[in-house]
Formats: sequence, C-alpha cells, structure tokens
Amino acid sequence: MKIEEILSGTPVAGLPGGHFIDGAYTASTRAQMESYDPGRAAPFATFARGTAADIDQAVASAIHAFEKTWRKTPPAERGRILYHAAQLIRDDAERLAIVECLDSGKPLNEALGDVNGAARAFEYYAGACDKLQGDTFPLPQGYLGYSVYEPVGVSAQIIPWNYPISTAARGIAPALAAGCTVVAKPAEQTPFTALQLADILTKAGLPAGVCNVVSGTGAEAGAPLVAHPDVDQITFTGSVATGQAVMRSAADNVTRLVLELGGKSPVVVLNDCDMERALTGVLGAIFENAGQICSAGSRLVIERGIHDAFVGELCARAKKLTIGHGLRDPQLGPVNSAGHLDKIAGFIDRARSRGAEILTGGRTTADPETGEGWFYEPTIVADRPSDDELVREEIFGPVLTVQIADDPEHALALAGDCQYGLVAGIYTGNVSNALKMARDVDAGQIFINEYFAGGVEVPFGGNKLSGFGREKGLEGLRSYCKVKSVAARID
Ligand code: NAI
Ligand code: MG
Repeated sequence: MKIEEILSGTPVAGLPGGHFIDGAYTASTRAQMESYDPGRAAPFATFARGTAADIDQAVASAIHAFEKTWRKTPPAERGRILYHAAQLIRDDAERLAIVECLDSGKPLNEALGDVNGAARAFEYYAGACDKLQGDTFPLPQGYLGYSVYEPVGVSAQIIPWNYPISTAARGIAPALAAGCTVVAKPAEQTPFTALQLADILTKAGLPAGVCNVVSGTGAEAGAPLVAHPDVDQITFTGSVATGQAVMRSAADNVTRLVLELGGKSPVVVLNDCDMERALTGVLGAIFENAGQICSAGSRLVIERGIHDAFVGELCARAKKLTIGHGLRDPQLGPVNSAGHLDKIAGFIDRARSRGAEILTGGRTTADPETGEGWFYEPTIVADRPSDDELVREEIFGPVLTVQIADDPEHALALAGDCQYGLVAGIYTGNVSNALKMARDVDAGQIFINEYFAGGVEVPFGGNKLSGFGREKGLEGLRSYCKVKSVAARID
C-alpha cells in the first residue's frame, strides 16, 4: 500500500468489518461505525459496532477454548506459538503501522515503534510460558506443602485509543502465556490493529477461541464485557472515571482487575543535569504521541538556577517541531478526536483567563499541507502554582506546565505533590538526589536520566489515582495466575 495513494484518499483495502471470534473474522455486521483519520478529521473506514450478544458469543468461545484446549496446551507449545506470533507481527509491521497511524493519528515511525514493541511483548512472554513455577513450603516431617500457578480463566482486555496495538499486546501476551483465554474490546476510535493482532495470532497457530476481539463502544460492548459473570479477570487502561465504573461493575461478580489509569507525571530537572540529555528527554516526554500518554511527563519541575536557559531552549525546540499527518511522519501528529481537541483547548483557554503565561503554542492548528486535521500546537506554560488546574489535572495533550523549585529538596516535594502516582522522572548528575527521588516519590516507575527508559522487562503500573496492579515484566504474569497451595499429611 503506497502512502501517497492513501494520503490522496484511496481507501485502505482489507480492513475487517466484523469482529474476531472463535478463530475467524465474523461477517461484517449490519451495525457499523466509522473510524476517523485524525490527520484529516475525516472517516476512513467502518467497523462492527458490537453488542452484548457479540460479547456473549466471544466469552462463550473463550470459555470453551480455555477448558478444552488452551489450559491443557503444554507450556512450551504455548511459548512456540507466541514466539511465532512475534515473528509474524514483525513481518507485517509496515501494514500494521500504517493502519495504526491512520486510526490513531500518531506519526508513522512512532506507530512502527509500537508494532515492534508489540512483537517484543510476545517474544518476552513466549519465553516465560514454561517458567511459571510454584514453591514448596517447609512443613514438619510427614507433611508436604507446594503451590502451583493456575491460569485465572477468561481475561477481558479493555484497550484505549492512544496505544492501541501496544496496549493490546502487553495485556494479551502475558494472559496467553499464563494459559488464559481473552476477549479484548479495543477503543471505538481505534479498532483495527487489535482485530488484526487476533488474526495474526491465529495464523501463528493459536487455537480458535483463545483470543477474541469485539469492536464497538464502551457502553455497548465494553460494559457488558466487564459485567459478564463468566469473565474471570479484567485489565482496563483508560480514564479514572471509566476505571471506577469498571471497578464497580467488577464488584458484582468479584472479578479481579488491573486498572491502569491516568497520570500527571513530573520530570525533575536539577541544576547539575546534562542539559542536552534533559532537553531531549523533556521534549519527548510531553510531545511523543502529542502528549496522549498516561505516563507523559507533563509537569516540568525545574531548579531555579537553570530555569531561564533551559526553558528558553525548550520553547525554541518546541516551536520547531514539524506538524503534519501521521503518514508524513512529522515530529508531532494530530490528537485523536475532535472532542479530545476541544478538551485540550479548554484547559488552555481557562488557564489564559486565570492569567497564565503561555510561553509557546496554545492554539489549535491544522496540517500545513492540507489545512485539515485535529492538531494542537506544542504548548509550554510558565510557572504555575501547585493547586492550579494545569498542574493537577491530566490534559492528555501536547501541553507542558512548568513549576520552579528553589533547591533539590523543594523539587522532590513539588514532584510528589500529586493525586496521581504513575511515573516520575529526574535529570541530575547527583546520584544521591536521584535515589532520594526514587525512594520518596510515590509512583510506580522512576526514570533516572532518561524518561521512558526500559521496555517490556520492567513492570509498569500506578499508585494513587493512577490505579493498581502491574503490567509488563514477570510481575505482569501474576494478574493472570491464581496461586493454589497444597498441603498434605503423607504419613
Ligand atoms: P475511556 O476510559 O472512557 O475509554 C477507554 C476504554 O474504555 C475504551 O475502549 C472505551 O470504549 C472503554 N469504555 C468506556 N466506557 C466503558 C464502560 N462503561 N465499561 C467498559 N469499558 C468502557 O477514556 P476516553 O473517553 O477515551 O478518554 C478520556 C480521558 O481518559 C482522556 O482524555 C485521558 O485523560 C484518559 N485516558 C487515559 C488513558 C491511559 O493510557 N491511561 C488512555 C485513554 C484515555
Ligand atoms: Mg480512528
């Protein structure tokens, strides 16, 4: 598929119009919804609008596959299938990245990174399938105590629109590795790559019914999935409000869950940092994926001594970022929807009326080639007090708020003063200050001298309003396992 052809309006061939249930795409349903290309602010394809009946069918398929096939498949064989899937994802990376780019808006090279990251998740968990071993317990003579890890059963995966394929992969890969089967519900803004992933898994040898995907809205398909009495576990990534609704619904069936919610993560930059490294890091932390990242570094906490030089250069670099349709591979793509653009603009408009100084950006804009699309300028707002809305609330867009600190101690206090607890980053040459931050700030991840350092090997998740439970790493397997202890008197 030629990128120029797509940009000039040629429809993308081969996108699924149905769900993926029991090992195959279902026929296109009559109820279809449009998915938008944010770079053009126009619909580019339709997909199936799932209902509770589709969810019932997918859950039934997942239960059947769990009982009859997957839980009995030898762990080493599960590993071979996941590893094969990783290879097929890599083989198909360009097609998947183009679809991801169109559906979400993100720049093509970021989409390609996400696809390769998805492959990496399957590779990583492929190797873990046959290493899920339990314990033995030191009971007195005449007794034997041991534990085994059993798969929890059917896992429901609710996927957001900001990282569609990578969030799907980071949940589905460990679930399958642990021996669970899956029903995933991608976001209605970005349904396609999760569906394609299920198809690829099947081509890699995954038995029918082990991974099902139902597309549609949160209310019509997501809610019946998380409320389904036969679902044993839920992994939800999205907003705090929806996470709370999912948690309430899970309570009715006592369904276990992992909640990966929002963030308002600080990046602390101290006087003794490596300036170049910190500039690159802070820029990427807020403008990658146009700031639509739960773990975006959206608060710059900067020590007074370097404030002027650092923020001046940061603004100069932000101004120079290229903007455009994701397929032209700009440095900053559009945001995902018209509603989301309005939400971002609302934050800045309100801040202006409170007297905030916008150092750069602060307006909606468009693809300079076409005048189309849902774009927001890379925006940096001068020092705001800790109780300001811009400092407290997740904006989920290309908006960085500055907070000035008098010294390292003050910086760590500002960093930790937050209702969220997902990530905190620090740039400093002083190992003691870096490790104090790692010790004192209540967050699931601490990044030292490289924001977003690490990969699938490193556990990821939040504290406070950012949720609970961990994905990635071997820790990520625990959500999909239940420990059974056996204690026996043997003589
Ligand atoms: P959302 O939390 O409503 O949507 C996330 C997913 O949940 C989607 O797949 C959606 O269809 C599904 N969903 C919605 N209602 C549901 C329900 N009652 N039961 C089950 N599933 C349901 O988030 P939305 O509206 O897309 O974005 C709102 C804000 O949430 C963003 O502005 C951002 O601040 C935050 N967000 C955070 C994400 C993260 O990575 N932690 C990802 C996406 C959004
Ligand atoms: Mg879309």
